Amino acid sequence: MKVNKYRDRVEEKLNDYLPKSGELADSIRYSVIDCGKRFRPILTYTIADIYKEDISLFDSSACAVELIHAYSLIHDDLPAMDDDDVRHSKPACHKEFSEAQAILTGDALQAFAFSIITNDNKIEQSIRLQCVQQLSNASYEMALGQAIDMSIMSRTVDIDILENMHSKKTGALLRCAVNLGATISTKCSPKDMRILDSFSKSIGLAYQIQDDVLDILVSEDVLGKKQNSDIEKNKPTYPSLLGMDNSQIMLNEYYDKAIDSLDKLSVDAERLINLTRKLQSRGF
Ligand code: IPE
Ligand code: IPE
Ligand code: MG
Ligand code: MG
Ligand code: MG
Repeated sequence: MKVNKYRDRVEEKLNDYLPKSGELADSIRYSVIDCGKRFRPILTYTIADIYKEDISLFDSSACAVELIHAYSLIHDDLPAMDDDDVRHSKPACHKEFSEAQAILTGDALQAFAFSIITNDNKIEQSIRLQCVQQLSNASYEMALGQAIDMSIMSRTVDIDILENMHSKKTGALLRCAVNLGATISTKCSPKDMRILDSFSKSIGLAYQIQDDVLDILVSEDVLGKKQNSDIEKNKPTYPSLLGMDNSQIMLNEYYDKAIDSLDKLSVDAERLINLTRKLQSRGF
């Protein structure tokens, strides 16, 4: 399993890319370095792996998608949003610095993500443009999903609304992480791209249902963020609507569906399947 190798790689590359001095350097580094599971960049690298590509061509996109994710978490924790004080087992960015600085740190990370891709001269310009299109669409979708999340607090909603919200607020970036890999690979055919897109939609949705489940089942020590955060805010989630057992069944079905969809891929998908099982069995 190359997951650890990819995790180390994204850590090293993020360290290189991120500013080392200047106004926001401290809060940027505090919120990005040595934080999180890095599943999004690991997905991008795993696509490079199954197509046996030169992995260095995937560094900028892998890091960019992680930076958009990091920005989304900083803003997600703000008092105006989820009002959560702990992230990655330490004070959330707005608690360690200030609300204004957390907003600006998120803003800066978003812009920085795009500049990393546009400045990557190793990648052909037309491919860079496609990557920017995909990442900007996904960031926009993520914000739309977060807007739905804010608008349905304390309301009873049906499963279609939840599915749409989850696919946008979390699914879009995971999907993008896979599709960026498929776009940069010269060996990934249009047919494989469609298969991978369908795979990524399923894992994206599964991942947020699982986040809702873990929010209830796992303690803050392990989760690195507050337990029962959703219940306290009276947020509609899969467990609140369908119950815990059905939510777990459903997320497992989405992961299985994702793996099944890889059947017709033109290359050996074993590493991607193993990674999907790793996502599925995550405990935090
Ligand atoms: C948490 O995502 C919030 C969601 C979008 C589900 P992760 O659980 O991937 O966050 P980290 O980066 O590993 O902490
Ligand atoms: C987060 O959803 C989605 C985004 C950050 C885009 P949650 O609000 O459930 O994430 P956690 O539980 O705070 O990590
Ligand atoms: Mg939230
Ligand atoms: Mg939250
Ligand atoms: Mg959550």
